[in-house]
Amino acid sequence: MDDLRSAQWYVGQDRNAYIHRAWMRRGLPENALDGTKPQIAIANTASDLTPCNMHLDEVSASVQKGIWEAGGVPYNLPVVSLGETVLKPTAMLWRNMAAMAIEEMLRANPIDGVVLLGGCDKTIPALLMAAASVNIPAIVVPGGPMLTGHFRGEALGCGTDVWRLSEEVRGGQITNGEFLKSESSMIRSKGHCNTMGTASTMAVVAEALGMTIPGFAGTPAPDARLQAMSHETGRLIVNMIREDRRPSDIMTRESFLNAIVAVAAVGGSTNSVVHLLAIAGRLGIELTLDDFDAAGKDVPLLVNLQPSGEFLMDDLFRAGGVLAALAEVKDFLRPEPITVTGVPLVHYLDDQPVFDPTVIYPREAPLLPDAGIAVLRGNLAPSGAIIKPAAATAELLSHTGPAVVFDSIEDMRDRLDDPDLDVTKDSVLVLRGCGPRGYPGMPEVGNMPLPRKLLEQGVRDMVRISDARMSGTAYGTVILHVAPEAAAGGPLAYIRTGDIVTLDVESRSLNVDVSPEELAARVESATSVAAYAAPTRGWTRLYVDHVMQADTGADLDFLVGSSGDAVSRESH
Ligand code: FES
Repeated sequence: MDDLRSAQWYVGQDRNAYIHRAWMRRGLPENALDGTKPQIAIANTASDLTPCNMHLDEVSASVQKGIWEAGGVPYNLPVVSLGETVLKPTAMLWRNMAAMAIEEMLRANPIDGVVLLGGCDKTIPALLMAAASVNIPAIVVPGGPMLTGHFRGEALGCGTDVWRLSEEVRGGQITNGEFLKSESSMIRSKGHCNTMGTASTMAVVAEALGMTIPGFAGTPAPDARLQAMSHETGRLIVNMIREDRRPSDIMTRESFLNAIVAVAAVGGSTNSVVHLLAIAGRLGIELTLDDFDAAGKDVPLLVNLQPSGEFLMDDLFRAGGVLAALAEVKDFLRPEPITVTGVPLVHYLDDQPVFDPTVIYPREAPLLPDAGIAVLRGNLAPSGAIIKPAAATAELLSHTGPAVVFDSIEDMRDRLDDPDLDVTKDSVLVLRGCGPRGYPGMPEVGNMPLPRKLLEQGVRDMVRISDARMSGTAYGTVILHVAPEAAAGGPLAYIRTGDIVTLDVESRSLNVDVSPEELAARVESATSVAAYAAPTRGWTRLYVDHVMQADTGADLDFLVGSSGDAVSRESH
């Protein structure tokens, strides 16, 4: 195989080829660098500071065995990793940075293909964005969810039960001491969050896009089969290079539509919207918010997992797994898109039995008949906003009420529990200054807590609107990703407490009852949301200057599109 990309480093009798071979040899077999063996990076997001991905070094070892076995040469490549729960001000601020850094290292190094090891929320999106931009053969290994933890005999869902229990503390149903006792039970094993949060959703997305070995997504991190499929992935990437199967052959517009269907059927995270838009942008694929509404329409919710339902990822795996769920909605899936194996995804959906219909509901009796993400527009969100009806309260999907406006999360925290706050269960909570540019980084704060006095009255959900995102593990009647955001001059900057807001999910509308002239005259309100949006240096400066709005994926404007795998000039 003399047309390998890596051959441009290693083949030749000149000084440069000598230098490349001599420094890389380090115990490799004599023929490893002869230009005929695929050189494969394992982009590894293992980090002690990304607890959900800590085990990926073991996974890398299995992938390496498979690569050797198939005649390739593996290289573990530690890449920027993002720990969702620990990074401040929010992991999303760094998604594009990770994607950019990984992209550049894939292009700059002598590699012919890459295995992408991810898990925690932003890691699979960043890896896929990078691989899409470089467009060398690539395959995802989803690091897998953790096992179910229990507290007092009941299963604990990562994230979802933190939100639920902390609201119960604020509402006086349990003590703070009882809440804290659950802490050591929450995270039981290696792996990422075990709800259908963003990490699980993005593993499903990777599989529905065709970028994993079919049947891999959702395999629990401690399960021996995760190692076996990682080994198999190592073998497969070598074949993908030999067959020149690239991300752009696999991730087509049709496969993105399949991913949207998959997210609806499993009750996946709203965060998949910004990630799918950003990945598609790297491939030059025309994908818009409206595609989410159209492709997800009438797709039933079948997977009964938190936060939309009851069970956890381990239960989904024993009930038949992601493929069994996708088999139930096969008629919604486009048949053409191929997977990393070269075989279309739909070919893997025959003979996928469901072993527990309380976890994967039958198509004819779904949990919800229509689980797609709804895209709202109106004078509060001219470029769009989203809501996940499956995680909302049905009665609130059509609602009119007075706005209670907060300029930042600090403002919200200061005033939310004030007994004098003028708020009722019919109010609409509005939070601004939390978009990509305004926060900056678009944090997961859209599922604002409810005012304590309402919790004490037994209120458990209210309409909430923001330019922020929401944790994939959260729930409620929460309108997210309002675009343009307040800090970009969107109408959200001009709404005032007391304005009447109307949400109607059926007609996909979100409006405030204020005339365009009056909204335009309210310029002074906008200044308060720009306080955090003026960084002077570093990544945050670059980010704020170039980040796009949520309706196009919140990527940096100059990273959209694929730059390819061209080998740069030599410096020696
Ligand atoms: Fe890593 Fe939830 S915090 S997946």
